[in-house]
Amino acid sequence: MKSYKRSTITAALPYANGPIHIGHLAGCYLPADIYVRYLRLKGEEVAFVCGSDEHGMAITMKARKEGVTPREIVDRYHEMMRDALAGFGVQFDIYSRTSSPKHAEVASNFFQTLYEKGVFEARETDQYYDPEAEQFLADRYITGTCPKCQAPGAYGDQCEKCGSTLNPTDLINPTSTLSGSAPEMRKTTNWFLPLDKLAPELRTYIESHPEWKSNVYGQCKSWLDAGDGLQPRSMTRDLDWGVPVPVEGADGKVLYVWFDAPIGYITATQELFGADWEKWWKDEDTRLVHFIGKDNIVFHCLIFPAILMQHGGYILPQDVPANEFLNLEGEKLSTSRNWAVWLHEYLAEFPGKQDSLRYALCATMPETKDNDFTWADFQQRNNSELVAILGNLVNRVMVLNHKFCEGLVPAAGSAPEDLEALAAIAQQSAKVSAALDAYRFREALTEAMNLARVGNKYLADAEPWKVVKSDPTRAAEILGTATQIMAALGVVFEPFLPFSAAKIRAMLGMGLADWSLLAGTRLVPAGQTLSEPALLFEKIEDEAMDAQRAKLVKPSETDSQPMETPAIPAIAANIDYDQFAGLDLRVATILDAIKVPKADRLLQLTLDTGVDRRTVLSGIAEHFTPEEVVGRQVVLLANLAPRTIRGVESQGMILMAENPETGKLEFLQPGVALPAGATIR
Ligand code: 2FM
Ligand code: ZN
Repeated sequence: MKSYKRSTITAALPYANGPIHIGHLAGCYLPADIYVRYLRLKGEEVAFVCGSDEHGMAITMKARKEGVTPREIVDRYHEMMRDALAGFGVQFDIYSRTSSPKHAEVASNFFQTLYEKGVFEARETDQYYDPEAEQFLADRYITGTCPKCQAPGAYGDQCEKCGSTLNPTDLINPTSTLSGSAPEMRKTTNWFLPLDKLAPELRTYIESHPEWKSNVYGQCKSWLDAGDGLQPRSMTRDLDWGVPVPVEGADGKVLYVWFDAPIGYITATQELFGADWEKWWKDEDTRLVHFIGKDNIVFHCLIFPAILMQHGGYILPQDVPANEFLNLEGEKLSTSRNWAVWLHEYLAEFPGKQDSLRYALCATMPETKDNDFTWADFQQRNNSELVAILGNLVNRVMVLNHKFCEGLVPAAGSAPEDLEALAAIAQQSAKVSAALDAYRFREALTEAMNLARVGNKYLADAEPWKVVKSDPTRAAEILGTATQIMAALGVVFEPFLPFSAAKIRAMLGMGLADWSLLAGTRLVPAGQTLSEPALLFEKIEDEAMDAQRAKLVKPSETDSQPMETPAIPAIAANIDYDQFAGLDLRVATILDAIKVPKADRLLQLTLDTGVDRRTVLSGIAEHFTPEEVVGRQVVLLANLAPRTIRGVESQGMILMAENPETGKLEFLQPGVALPAGATIR
């Protein structure tokens, strides 16, 4: 693998149109911060840049809703977001903003360079215009009936009912959301980035990164491989909030927010380093890594690289470790429905407990698929892992050292069990490194916690509190060994739990954390004075969790909620034909069905497969009674290896479709009755 001199690490610029919630934190700011802290511990040169994304319709729509100016909106949320992220220890080198004059200059120059190179295609198109509001109506400023599912209230760019991507001109009975009137068609010119022509270069770039996370690589490939391929995309908009388009004949137009926002990373770097900024973006020895959520993949992996390539002189993103989405208590996070845990509220309600949330979010990070955050899981991880494992070890070491060793670091022992425990420092930290290098944050956290488990087991086996009665010297050696493990935890947890790791190091009188210490077994010198034990974590009681759950309002309990996009999962990575051909799919008939005792979700089905009669367990009992399913024809995956569940062997699997809006499972049935055993291809 190529080695690099420095890393430019970016975290997606959040829209300054609302506060930040746990989905944002788990999606990109926490992994980015963990990664950057890890690089810094290794002594690497890093620039960690972020800022507020203050343009685009996310902002103007919010301003309209509140009847204030876009400027008021971005000023309010910029500070709020900056402070919330800082409150959780996310340590950017700079947190900038895209409404600054400096950014307008940088983004404008970028556009001009591409314009002068002849990269853009000027296109005159018909667009809806609201004569009352005297404005062209881009995307969300226009609603109408969805041509695909006939739902009312679809937006110009997307129907939130069926999830289809739309153009404003697709809508039936279009209406302006500004004035409520029917819009008229007018001609307007915009400047398009010809992604269709750039596709071969982009394909070469993407295919040179098969090592990327499969969710990211797969999504890029599916854009490139889509039937009609990449389409030209307009880089300008008929709006009055944004960076003015710096070419003649572009009055009343601004840069598309997805043109200017990623350039915001470059502006922030210039603000940070002044004249010395270029090496962070133009030197082949610099590694550029973008941390983002999955909805930003196409912009960071295809559109921004296309812009950088066309400009010339810039390095391209070397990796884009995007996460999937976090849900909350089984529901999609939603700002409009207030179904969220807001960072600023958590900071106020759980003062000093930032690491508890960092820990729970890292442990459930949606790395490869969407994942669920629940307060029960948060409480359990805090109480049974942070308090009972890490906090317990640190507390025991500190208390016993004060009790038996005069508050000084005792020398570690060299008995085989001591050496074995000490060896775990290098072993576990190597595992943490390997996982972090591959952006596997959950695994890295588990391996860090396993070192604390080693420490606890070592102490429990060695029992220094008993040994001290007969052999105080040996007891001191045991405590010395455990103290070195505690010191290692103060380093290895620094990326994940920076507040607690700093406390651990302070108790031991250690200086700054340094990853290279983990290669050794003596992280603190014997004889060093210990400070008083400090409480690392406190138990979180049920009442606090009940109060948090009570703050959430179920969607069904509120009326007239704006519709949310159904959680339709992205298309999975491609498989080849042979993998598909390996599936033996059959039509089968359900002959009998019973509920499986003590299993709420399972029905035990007897199937006629045309070839045999067999038993299949199916997780549909919450959706269908046994009576409802007998006699149905179903689709059976017939050659799935048998599995024994609750003592019953299940010989295959029934395929069901899940309604993304309700979560209800539905049978797949042939359009006409077929003999059991019919094959499906
Ligand atoms: O999805 C979002 O919240 C965007 N504001 C992210 C922008 S990332 C970058 F390009 F600035
Ligand atoms: Zn629709």
